[in-house]
Amino acid sequence: MERRAQFATRIGVVATTVGSAVGLGNIWRFPYEAGTHGGGAFLLCYLFFIFVIGIPVISAEFVMGRSARSCILGAFRTHSGGRRWDGIGYCSILAAILILSFYSVVAGWTMEYTVESVAGHLGGVADAGRHSEFDRFISGWRPVIWMIAFLVLNALILLGGVKKGIERVSNILMPVLFLILLAFCVNSLLMPGASDGLKFLFTPDFSAITPGVVLGAMGQAFFSLSIGLGCMMTYSSYFSDRTPIVKSATTTALLDTLVAVLAGVIIFPAVFSFGMEAEAGPKLVFEVLPSIFSRLHGGEVWSTLFFFLLVLASLTSTISMSEIFIAFVCEEFHMSRRAATILLTLIAMGLGTLCALSFGPLVDVTMFGKTIFDLFDYVSSNILLPLGGMVISLFVGWRLDRNTLTSQLNSNGRLPRWVIVWLLISLRYIAPLCILAVFLAS
Ligand code: PHE
Repeated sequence: MERRAQFATRIGVVATTVGSAVGLGNIWRFPYEAGTHGGGAFLLCYLFFIFVIGIPVISAEFVMGRSARSCILGAFRTHSGGRRWDGIGYCSILAAILILSFYSVVAGWTMEYTVESVAGHLGGVADAGRHSEFDRFISGWRPVIWMIAFLVLNALILLGGVKKGIERVSNILMPVLFLILLAFCVNSLLMPGASDGLKFLFTPDFSAITPGVVLGAMGQAFFSLSIGLGCMMTYSSYFSDRTPIVKSATTTALLDTLVAVLAGVIIFPAVFSFGMEAEAGPKLVFEVLPSIFSRLHGGEVWSTLFFFLLVLASLTSTISMSEIFIAFVCEEFHMSRRAATILLTLIAMGLGTLCALSFGPLVDVTMFGKTIFDLFDYVSSNILLPLGGMVISLFVGWRLDRNTLTSQLNSNGRLPRWVIVWLLISLRYIAPLCILAVFLAS
């Protein structure tokens, strides 16, 4: 049998899982979800889900993926000795396709913004003018072209192979993005309305915690950590036998959360300083950031750099969701990697077109009161990912052979016993019950 590719270095492992986790979910989706769900109340619930459910579920995915050394479907089959769990594998693949479709649209917006920044069109434009410009942009056909361009780029990187493509890109660029975010945080904190923005984000109003807010926060936690669809599982199938599972899971979750909070600290002080609407929805970040840049010296340069890095951060995320589908079709249908990549790209282009147009020509096509874009996002993040997370935790908690579990967890030296006990309790009871409760409540 062909030897399965493996990540070259330990840093590579963290950089790649963080690369998958950190993306538009942190910088675009987190601020807009927090903005529409009451700020502090949302952040509190979000942090709860990251630590109580997120870290155990990432660890569970790592355990399953590395011990089976296959994609999500294969991992369930290997560990259960049958095909009874195939359904969950198919749900994950569906979720990955839906996410890739709407995510590529937003990534396309960032590509447009990168190019516009290079052309010098963002800095110095009056705020009011820019809002209508963004509206005009997303309601036209240009987003479709950018979405296609983004998916082509994604495919090109995927065809470079696991190690060369993914690892090299994420190793170098994630730290740069992080430094830029820090610089913008400082800039936002110096704005006149900063304290109102910080109050909005960090002071929870407990009466604002409704089932909708809790469901939104849970969906955001799953989305941001790339869990519940076997993404981390597929990546961990490329881990070496000595990668420390709990440590890698915790590092990934901490860094991911830090980036989301930093994005909040950049966006909300600016929103309040400029008198904008925190509830603006998907448009929020694309309207606030240019306003920030236009007030800076060398705004175009900052803006170009920022959006360019955001495109790259999006790529490291889309590569990971694509990997779920590709690993599946290659293993299941013995398709070549190349053919699988092309197939996925074509499907995502088709669905992505519907998402892109749902801000314009298809704005009236709705289901349950949601546009196609919103529906794809809602169904995948708030339903499919938590459902996947619930099944994965139940499976690893109750069904997985206990020796496999402990030997995987202890692969890099013994873990303290309480960590294993805590993980087991979370996976068996806490995570599944919390997810169930949120579903029932909403
Ligand atoms: N976690 C990624 C982000 O925050 C999005 C993602 C979701 C990636 C699901 C893979 C799987 O941008």
